[in-house]
Amino acid sequence: MRIGLSYDLKMGVTGQHAVDDALEEYDSPDTVELITAAFESRGHEVVRLGGGEQFLDNVRHEKVDIAFNIAEGRGSHRSREAQIPSILEMLDIPYTGSDPQCLAVCLDKPATKKLVAADDIITPKWLTMASEQELRCTAWEDFPYPAIVKPAYEGSSKGIRFTSLAYSAKQAQKEALRTLECYRQPVMIEEFIDGDEVAVGIIGNNPHRIVGIMRVVPRKKNGHFIYSLEVKRDYLNLVDYECPAHLDPEAMEKLAESSLKVFKALGCRDFARVDFRVSPEGIPYFIEINPLPGLGTYSDLIIMAKMMGWKHKEVIGAVLDAALERYPQCVRV
Ligand SMILES: Nc1ncnc2c1ncn2[C@@H]1O[C@H](COP(=O)(O)OP(=O)(O)OP(=O)(O)O)[C@@H](O)[C@H]1O
Ligand SMILES: [Mg+2]
Repeated sequence: MRIGLSYDLKMGVTGQHAVDDALEEYDSPDTVELITAAFESRGHEVVRLGGGEQFLDNVRHEKVDIAFNIAEGRGSHRSREAQIPSILEMLDIPYTGSDPQCLAVCLDKPATKKLVAADDIITPKWLTMASEQELRCTAWEDFPYPAIVKPAYEGSSKGIRFTSLAYSAKQAQKEALRTLECYRQPVMIEEFIDGDEVAVGIIGNNPHRIVGIMRVVPRKKNGHFIYSLEVKRDYLNLVDYECPAHLDPEAMEKLAESSLKVFKALGCRDFARVDFRVSPEGIPYFIEINPLPGLGTYSDLIIMAKMMGWKHKEVIGAVLDAALERYPQCVRV
């Protein structure tokens, strides 16, 4: 099969960046190499479509059977992850992963929380503010502290630093103003769940397979842990990964059940990673879902899959297979 690979590389996105984590979501050439090698080992031909305008040129000229999409999209728009799948749908090209509607909803954390809460999934209390005026009108004193302040439409912990954890109304307000100004999108304040950091990986559609339930354990045990940008950039020194998570069986069952419920409620396809904090009472609080999780060597889905005995190329192959089941016309006999 001829597989088109759509991706956005850090080095491919040029121009002035307002914040030092502007490129954090984008991939490195190593990831593209690894995915290419995974497909070539299965006898497929890989066509590098890239992202942005380069993708537009390539997709018009290269005939591919299916696109394997890992492109995060451009700008700070809440629908950026939907950009490439929208074009692929317009051109009637099969592609892996969730559709534009799902990707756009899931990048919008407040919208996602409203949808899953309607399905009885527990998620921390939150408020969203889209302007300085809304910041001024917010009843900061009424919110429970500590609380976390974060951009409403980001991933890879962009905008989430040690300083994002606010212990008072004054601190929260200051951090919210900074976040609003720097990230040019609404900001949310969310109740801080001081519990275990857990990620759940899912691959496949009917049946959906739980790849792993992984706990991210901070090496420093004092203070409140956030899997912040600083931690993700220095994960080798700051955290350990535990998969399967050593949590009580009831909490593990609730995590598996909630993840699948969220995956289905949001209309996800092929693969995703769901992030939770589990309270000391064993209650999983839904934080967010990534229907386009990283597939590089050091991304959480790959780390957990490897700990569960998968090889990198097997994860890539399983995502492709899940998509191919939806597009039987792509499978040549
Ligand atoms: N309500 C919360 N309570 C406790 N910790 C939180 C909360 N919200 C976020 N965090 C911490 O901040 C981290 C990053 O938050 P979140 O997952 O929302 O950001 P993200 O940018 O979408 O990250 P990624 O896409 O890399 O998963 C979480 O993994 C968690 O450690
Ligand atoms: Mg997350």
